[in-house]
Amino acid sequence: MIGNESPKPVSIPLLNILAISGSLRAASTNSALLAALAQNAPPDCHVSVYDGLGRLPIFNPDEEGERTPLQAAVLIDAVTAADGVIVSCPEYAHGVPGGLKNALDWLVSRDAAVGKPATLVHASPRSLFARAALAEVMRTMSFALHEEAALEIALLGKRPPEVEDILSQPENRLTMRRAVSAFAGFIRSR
Ligand SMILES: Cc1cc2nc3c(=O)[nH]c(=O)nc-3n(C[C@H](O)[C@H](O)[C@H](O)COP(=O)(O)O)c2cc1C
Repeated sequence: MIGNESPKPVSIPLLNILAISGSLRAASTNSALLAALAQNAPPDCHVSVYDGLGRLPIFNPDEEGERTPLQAAVLIDAVTAADGVIVSCPEYAHGVPGGLKNALDWLVSRDAAVGKPATLVHASPRSLFARAALAEVMRTMSFALHEEAALEIALLGKRPPEVEDILSQPENRLTMRRAVSAFAGFIRSR
């Protein structure tokens, strides 16, 4: 009978988002923030946290193409396959930590970053030099940087139990969910 059918549920394709922390510390606040983002992501987003930063060899343009090292290829493939990238990184001496810059360098002469939606989140309220430098690097690499809805949850100097406590507070969980949703909206709008 026409007009009497129940509406069919609309399925929204799942977005795969790759989260990269610029800190290698076991008790990293940036890594904790990204793990919490993954846990609090909305149902239409799957956030996976990249864990290979410390295994990447130092970038060397002579090692590209067929000579690309396995760990670099893993990173390049992960960024290529992701619908979007979220980065959280500390500031070292007013700059971007070398490990993260090294990872980004492996992506420069590829298509992986070109037009790839990306956003930055912040665990330290004072990392202003690194934020600006990282945004400049990522824009230069042609990431499509979503800069409107930056998420900042102040975790600087907090120890792991305190970090866990802050990240499990309902208002912060909601803020994280909204931040990932806003980024998902940006990805879907492109
Ligand atoms: C070598 C080194 C240099 C740092 N330089 C700065 C700096 O220039 N500005 C700043 O705000 N914090 C600086 N910090 C503090 C870190 O950015 C801060 O502790 C950050 O939250 C650590 O992130 P993580 O917990 O994810 O490792 C520095 C820390 C280290 C270890």
